[in-house]
Amino acid sequence: MFKRPLSSSSRALQQVSKASQSKKFNLSDLEFGKLSKAQIAYLDRVIRVDQSGELGANLIYNAQYVVLANRYPHLKPVLQHMWDQELHHYSTFNDLQVRRRVRPSLLTPLWKVGAVGLGAVTALISKEAAMACTVAVETVIGNHYNEQLRVLMNQYDVPIYEKNTGEVISKESLEMTLRTSPELRQLKEFIKEFRDEELEHLETAIEHDAKKAVPYMLLTETIKLLCHGAIYTAERV
Ligand SMILES: [Fe+2]
Ligand SMILES: [Fe+2]
Repeated sequence: MFKRPLSSSSRALQQVSKASQSKKFNLSDLEFGKLSKAQIAYLDRVIRVDQSGELGANLIYNAQYVVLANRYPHLKPVLQHMWDQELHHYSTFNDLQVRRRVRPSLLTPLWKVGAVGLGAVTALISKEAAMACTVAVETVIGNHYNEQLRVLMNQYDVPIYEKNTGEVISKESLEMTLRTSPELRQLKEFIKEFRDEELEHLETAIEHDAKKAVPYMLLTETIKLLCHGAIYTAERV
């Protein structure tokens, strides 16, 4: 097939892009553009609400464990495993909160009482009601984490500069892991990991008869509403 000859300017452009593509960058070569005030404020909100949420999840599982573990020995390891994972989620967001100096939600005492109450009351109703509570909470948290991931993936695009020259680097020339700042990448990885574990908890609760709780719909829909209210408030207060 006949190929049109390249003009000298397009040949030069091709050479430049080939040169930047072939250059291998390390993280230490890169400088990430500053985040806007709105982006920083959203990050603070993410950490504040997730820390509160994971604190609440911990206390829910704690209360369920206290009420159910001795009565139903087969549930002991199941509840312990989910609780252990919540402890890890909570301590991770606690660390982030300290490191980024984000103030905790002012309503933390209320979240504590509410979570213990929710865990204990549902567990006292029945083991199925406790599992229905888990279904409701994890459904809301799973969606909440997905929403945060969407924002962090779509609205945190900052320019990346080569440290030495100050020149903007095209993202396509960088490996995927270098296209986001380490802090943001780590936060997204935590949220993805925790989201997957929350969805595992949801499945575990269904496997353990959550849907046999009476009245299932009323219980789960009420708890979902409570969780939505708590998320909305903890993000802001
Ligand atoms: Fe969690
Ligand atoms: Fe969970």
